[in-house]
Amino acid sequence: MPPTILVVDDELSMREFLKILLTKEGYTTETAVDGEDALSKIEKNSIDLVISDIRMPGVGGLELLSTIKQSQPTLPFIIITAFASPDDAVQAMKHGAYDYITKPFKVDEIKSVIHSALESKKNSEENNKETPAALFHNIIGESPEIQHVFDQISRVAPTHANVLIYGESGTGKELIAQAIHQNSNASRNHFVPIICNAIPESLFESELFGHIKGSFTGATTNKLGLLELADNGTAFLDEIGELSLMVQTKLLRFLQEREFKRVGDTKIRKVNVRIISATNRDLEQEILAKRFREDLFYRLAVVPLRMPPLRERKGDVPLLTQHFLEKYAQTFNKEVPQLSSYAMEVLMNYDFPGNVRELENIIERGVALSTSNLILPESLTLADAHRKADESPVEIDSPQLQTPLSGTKSTTVPEEDLFEQGLEKVIINLEKEMIELALVRANQSKMKAAELLKISFRSLRYKIKKYNIN
Ligand SMILES: Nc1ncnc2c1ncn2[C@@H]1O[C@H](COP(=O)(O)OP(=O)(O)OP(=O)(O)O)[C@@H](O)[C@H]1O
Ligand SMILES: [Mg+2]
Repeated sequence: MPPTILVVDDELSMREFLKILLTKEGYTTETAVDGEDALSKIEKNSIDLVISDIRMPGVGGLELLSTIKQSQPTLPFIIITAFASPDDAVQAMKHGAYDYITKPFKVDEIKSVIHSALESKKNSEENNKETPAALFHNIIGESPEIQHVFDQISRVAPTHANVLIYGESGTGKELIAQAIHQNSNASRNHFVPIICNAIPESLFESELFGHIKGSFTGATTNKLGLLELADNGTAFLDEIGELSLMVQTKLLRFLQEREFKRVGDTKIRKVNVRIISATNRDLEQEILAKRFREDLFYRLAVVPLRMPPLRERKGDVPLLTQHFLEKYAQTFNKEVPQLSSYAMEVLMNYDFPGNVRELENIIERGVALSTSNLILPESLTLADAHRKADESPVEIDSPQLQTPLSGTKSTTVPEEDLFEQGLEKVIINLEKEMIELALVRANQSKMKAAELLKISFRSLRYKIKKYNIN
């Protein structure tokens, strides 16, 4: 049976036009004059796709969309917006529209959007049979901030909306882009990363769109562009803020027309590609400085997604640390070490200017250098300027603690920093670390640890409780 499409528009001419077009394409077509009418048609008929105008008297397109998403979240919804209102498009995508089309549109454009929406519905029904759960397993975190990101991924992944991920370097933007692809209906097709600043401006067009043999010096064969490779899948445009204005214009044209030509070719080609882009620049600032096109920004950032820096979600540091300890223990073929509680405290008080990537490097080095199962603060290489002054960690030059562990002498700490902590805190930290070290040496036997520390079992038990050592 051919798919049934419901066309919702208050203008008779538009309804008629779409009805003729869609019937010619072999679809069954229903029409409705406004949101209310549409809801009753949906109740009575089995509809596979809705195309709706946004502005209508009574129940408008956005309201209709939200209502439908509650009862039939997988029913694809395409919204038709006026050319001049990118905000409407953004709102529509936020409410879960599959895609949007701006008026005036080309017949080919609407045909290709409909085709890909119906494909995606089919894929999602098949996918749902096999893999119901969302795949975030490789993104570590439990803070409310990262949960919010997971929410956004779940909501945006099944749509066809272009997503712009922005945030500081090392926050996990690429990981998020992959998660969106994996959780989308295009997950079985290619995810093609395109590192914008790695492609010279003169080659960009040919890399993106492909070229034909002899079209320029060096074009010795026909070449498929990256966008064609990503057909029915996702193209990930990384470092989008680095694109030159000339390249931005070419990319914008492709996004508007949904078609392109290979360099040197006359044939017009079409692809169905979802674009996820990422940047660590402030694009709004770049727009003001006239280095980034505003119209391109609106095409790319239909759904903007901010990756918070690690210092705003310190709650994830312990889990990430554990993850990287395990990862690098395996890499270096060692037992999984522990971080001393003071070393953990040092991390919790650190700002991580390089975000998760920096934490990963810190732990990698810590594991590589560790000679026992306990990693102490001196094995953590942090940028001094980003340690919190009031909690400045103190590296204690204590031969008992250091020599057997690292064999290297720790860097000397300025005397003022030492005093800033106060004697009591230094002693407590030292004591905690000695106990943790003894427990590791004694294979967690409190009796043996007490012997090593030359204190009574009871006193050790008391201190373990007091310092909350596990
Ligand atoms: N939540 C996370 N869980 C596990 N690993 C993570 C997480 N976030 C980031 N990483 C790891 O940190 C490193 C940096 O992440 P990624 O490359 O995605 O960052 P980015 O935001 O794209 O950085 P840049 O702007 O420098 O390209 C990667 O090795 C990635 O696997
Ligand atoms: Mg990146």
